[in-house]
Amino acid sequence: MPSPSTSTPGVRPADFRFRCISCGDLSDSASQDFRCRQCGDLLEIAYPKWTESRPNPAVLKSTWRERRFSHLAVDLSGVWRFRNLLPALDGDDQAVTLREGNTPLYELPRCARITGVPRLFAKHQGMNPTASFKDTGMTVAATFARRAGFRWVACASTGNTSASMAAYAARGGMRGLVLVPEGKISWSKLSQALDYGAVTCQLRTDFDGCLRLLQQLVLKAPVYQLNSINPFRLEGQKTLALELMEQFDWHPPDHIIVPGGNLGNSSAIGKALLEMRDLGLISSLPKLSVIQAEGANALVRSLREAAGKRLVTVSAETRATAIRIGNPASWKKAVHVLEATGGACEQVSETEIAEAKAEIGAEGIGCEPASAVTLAGLKRLLKQGFVKPDQTVVLVLTGNVLKDPDFTIDFHRGDMFKQGAESGVLSALRHPPIVLDATLDAVTRTLEQAEKAST
Ligand code: F0G
Repeated sequence: MPSPSTSTPGVRPADFRFRCISCGDLSDSASQDFRCRQCGDLLEIAYPKWTESRPNPAVLKSTWRERRFSHLAVDLSGVWRFRNLLPALDGDDQAVTLREGNTPLYELPRCARITGVPRLFAKHQGMNPTASFKDTGMTVAATFARRAGFRWVACASTGNTSASMAAYAARGGMRGLVLVPEGKISWSKLSQALDYGAVTCQLRTDFDGCLRLLQQLVLKAPVYQLNSINPFRLEGQKTLALELMEQFDWHPPDHIIVPGGNLGNSSAIGKALLEMRDLGLISSLPKLSVIQAEGANALVRSLREAAGKRLVTVSAETRATAIRIGNPASWKKAVHVLEATGGACEQVSETEIAEAKAEIGAEGIGCEPASAVTLAGLKRLLKQGFVKPDQTVVLVLTGNVLKDPDFTIDFHRGDMFKQGAESGVLSALRHPPIVLDATLDAVTRTLEQAEKAST
């Protein structure tokens, strides 16, 4: 079977080029592992035409606003609405879309009181069609996979990428191959991949092992890889930042805080911020900070022990399984955006993650454990004086609370931490289910006790 090319024969020359992040080599096509043919490093998408004919920021802003009133599928998508800053479609009907993006920006009054930061917001990417931020990147990458003629798309995943890829493959009429670490992803995410019809392989390894294998597979078989090594994914994920700035009426917040796993998302958000600044869409840069779980802290260690010059890999362990990654592929891109925006990189403990997740839940919003590292990280950054209480802070919540119900149930039942190891703050946040006889008296007494406890 011949391998389709990642550039498309017979299609007009692209408005973008692939650029190597290390040697800067520019090319019109990419090999199937999305690595530079000269030096083997990762590629990003560059738009050389922007230097010749710079898009006008005022025109862009009004075009994007007007598209909100359109009924075209590409305009209803919160990703393709910003298509002026994405690789061009062959036609407006070519996007593989599930109406991703357009996610809410919530105020967090309760967490604001806890942290002492009155202007605290959550950009909730868990409100996407498959309930994680992956959809914003997947719509772009799946569109270009189909355009290039691929029948199969594939990914390694800690769960959310696989759920998203399976959905967009199905939507785009392609087959999906999923490689996940056996026993290390939540059943909710796995069940999504199954329902959307992907061939789902649970491999006896970790995420890093799955990704290694996928990289070998794509060089042998005509399979298009949809991990965030694929630079089209990151172009789609850029739109989180565009949408966020629009929600702030183009007056950027001081800080954006994101969880870090394979480090694609932080890289994408950072790329968008830098592009927006260069194009004159915003006049100041928010500081972009990345938070990792202590047990999966490759970026934290790389910055502390090697000044970001080389990757310190770790053997990852955390109950926030979405970010259980020890060898993050996009670490160089993340180091670049941290440096360029002046952001920080921190790690948080399992207890801090559980506490922060329950606090976000108590807002009536909820998120998955990996997303909660952002609030836990904010508390640390406040203590260090890196974030000031009078600044505006946005936490990027990457996944929906329903993505990992086992974590939530174990926490509230008190099964997560050793007996006696739990702090008072943590136990006050627990709301375990109560089994009662089905009598009015039993329920009334429970109500009275709960009322007494809350006063
Ligand atoms: N939050 C959630 C909910 C995730 O699923 C992921 C990554 C991250 C944060 C970290 O983002 O990798 O771009 O730094 N999940 C991937 C997956 C790896 O396979 O679903 P990142």
